[in-house]
Amino acid sequence: MYVLRILSLVIAFGFIYMNKTPVGVYEFTRLGTNGGTNCAVCTVVLGLAEQLSVIHNETVVRGLERLCNFLPPPYQGACKEFTDFIADDIIRSFSQDDTADTACHKLSFCFTDPSTDTCHIFPRKPSHRDRLLKFVQTNRRHRTGANICDLPGIKRICAWINDIFSKHDPAIDLDGDFHSVYQTLRGSSWRGKDCDDERELFHPGAKPINGDKTMDSNCNGIYGINPTSGRGYEDELCGTSQSRGVAVLGDSISAHFHLPREWLNTTEMSLKVFEPLPFILENEIDWPEFSSVTAFRNNTDPFHEVLHGPVDSVYKRLFERNHCNHRDYQNIGVNGAKASSMADTIQLSFKRNITHDQPMIVFYALVGNDVCNRHPDIFNHMTTVEEMKNKSINTLNYLGKVLPKGSHVFYVGLADGAILYEALRDRVHPIGSLRNDVTYSEFYDYFNCLEISPCLGWMNTNATVREITTKRARELSEALKEVVAVHQSSFSNFKLYYVDNPIDQVLDEWTKQGGQDWELLEPVDGFHSNQLGQALTAKAIWENLEKMYPEAIGPVNPNNAKIKSLFGNQGGYL
Ligand SMILES: *[C@@H]1O[C@H](CO)[C@@H](O)[C@H](O)[C@H]1NC(C)=O
Ligand SMILES: *[C@@H]1O[C@H](CO)[C@@H](O)[C@H](O)[C@H]1NC(C)=O
Ligand SMILES: *[C@@H]1O[C@H](CO)[C@@H](O)[C@H](O)[C@H]1NC(C)=O
Ligand SMILES: *[C@@H]1O[C@H](CO)[C@@H](O)[C@H](O)[C@H]1NC(C)=O
Ligand SMILES: *[C@@H]1O[C@H](CO)[C@@H](O)[C@H](O)[C@H]1NC(C)=O
Ligand SMILES: *[C@@H]1O[C@H](CO)[C@@H](O)[C@H](O)[C@H]1NC(C)=O
Repeated sequence: MYVLRILSLVIAFGFIYMNKTPVGVYEFTRLGTNGGTNCAVCTVVLGLAEQLSVIHNETVVRGLERLCNFLPPPYQGACKEFTDFIADDIIRSFSQDDTADTACHKLSFCFTDPSTDTCHIFPRKPSHRDRLLKFVQTNRRHRTGANICDLPGIKRICAWINDIFSKHDPAIDLDGDFHSVYQTLRGSSWRGKDCDDERELFHPGAKPINGDKTMDSNCNGIYGINPTSGRGYEDELCGTSQSRGVAVLGDSISAHFHLPREWLNTTEMSLKVFEPLPFILENEIDWPEFSSVTAFRNNTDPFHEVLHGPVDSVYKRLFERNHCNHRDYQNIGVNGAKASSMADTIQLSFKRNITHDQPMIVFYALVGNDVCNRHPDIFNHMTTVEEMKNKSINTLNYLGKVLPKGSHVFYVGLADGAILYEALRDRVHPIGSLRNDVTYSEFYDYFNCLEISPCLGWMNTNATVREITTKRARELSEALKEVVAVHQSSFSNFKLYYVDNPIDQVLDEWTKQGGQDWELLEPVDGFHSNQLGQALTAKAIWENLEKMYPEAIGPVNPNNAKIKSLFGNQGGYL
């Protein structure tokens, strides 16, 4: 669940796989076997360049230049520097008979361990088996493989991306209240925008200071004195409204990992689809502002070219219910997060002041990384029931120290990812768009061959392996249920509940209406839920809250219309 730089395209692509493992780019490019991520990055980039060269009747090097020209600066410069460096090698290694797979073997980004099969994503040409075998036999010295991050142009982008992907606290936050005025780098895309970045006590979700009679301390845009009554507006319109915020402690599904399929589909590549690339990378390829728990934006410019589908969220509905809740959201989702990394580090970037802030609805939603990994020996790399209990209790204890009284915490069970394979196996992956020659089954096999899959257990053509993975996911959900049962009354500041993962319910309802499973899945990684899936998940969560836990969402504020007429968009979000 957690997943580049021949240019940033490459970088972006590779991070899908990083999903799983919280490692830096340097370690990341060394993941796997047979060349691992380096091999995958080379093959995807040269594969795209080759397809562009066919579409435009030009050489592969020209195709690579064309790809670079799609990118915005500074990626374009890095990409061109890289292209200049590698052009002669490509001309030498990419003959008429080659595919990106064989060319990347010749370039030594890919190799074949003697005990394994040769990994390939594009179909082999008939002549390949013998030629490649001969090549592999005569080129043993290349076995260690080349590292993309060592190459000119790519090096500085690796360092920069490494920095972004290893920090999960807002980069620009002068007063240290964990709310920022900047969007990306864990800023307002992730947590409500700060309205005063010089005062720590002024931030979204704060209890108003002196009734916000002169200044807006909780950033909900409501402040001042009603001249008629002489009372402060915050007090009059929000005082008894039971304001609250919403947060998610989660993984790439919660953060809404999304790599635009237009970046891999050579038949629809354009300058436009790469325009938001810097923004997307600065947000770790996640789209929290459109996610099921914390979406607050509408799907309009500048993203509508690369993000498709409706937007809905628990936050949006909480705001509709009570406008006093404006900006009070926190998305603490990290690609690759699992129970241990959540407890060991990630949870600490969730900030709430037990006395000074409003209560919150918190979702603890680690839906797959505890069973997902890239190792063929999956069994020995999955989280155990004991560890799940230990780590999830650790997180509960942290919430016990920071959540204001009146909060609600929902522990969400793991999803059943077996659906992924069934839904996608025979469909064409965007990387195969030009010739319809790469299916998801082949895509999964390729990543498993390189041992870089974000989830070998579920993205697997072997049904037994998928079943083993699902079984452990169920056991871990049971473990969470047990933790909740034992600790239900241990905390005076919040109520604690276990809920099943909503995705199963969402898929069920969607297919009953005649929809297809794949319509709710991310096309590039074949792993995450897409924009439509995120919106339907929000709807399902909300309806369950209304039905079963109405006290968690609080009452409808009768003053909403008045707030709107007095304070407009309440300062907006950006
Ligand atoms: C492709 O380009 C070559 C020379 O550059 C030309 O001879 C050939 O006719 C072109 N093919 C098509 C389909 O345009
Ligand atoms: C999103 O669109 C709705 C309906 O058009 C509008 O009421 C709302 O203000 C918009 N929200 C944002 C954040 O632009
Ligand atoms: C919470 O806010 C109060 C001010 O209301 C402050 O004195 C206290 O230090 C804060 N606690 C933490 C843990 O930041
Ligand atoms: C988790 O395990 C560690 C090490 O065994 C132990 O020190 C800690 O108390 C355990 N925590 C919980 C909440 O069980
Ligand atoms: C690639 O783009 C074309 C043109 O927009 C589209 O028809 C096709 O469905 C896309 N292929 C995939 C696999 O997404
Ligand atoms: C599927 O995986 C199981 C468990 O690892 C293994 O025993 C079995 O041989 C595999 N089946 C195939 C057809 O590879």
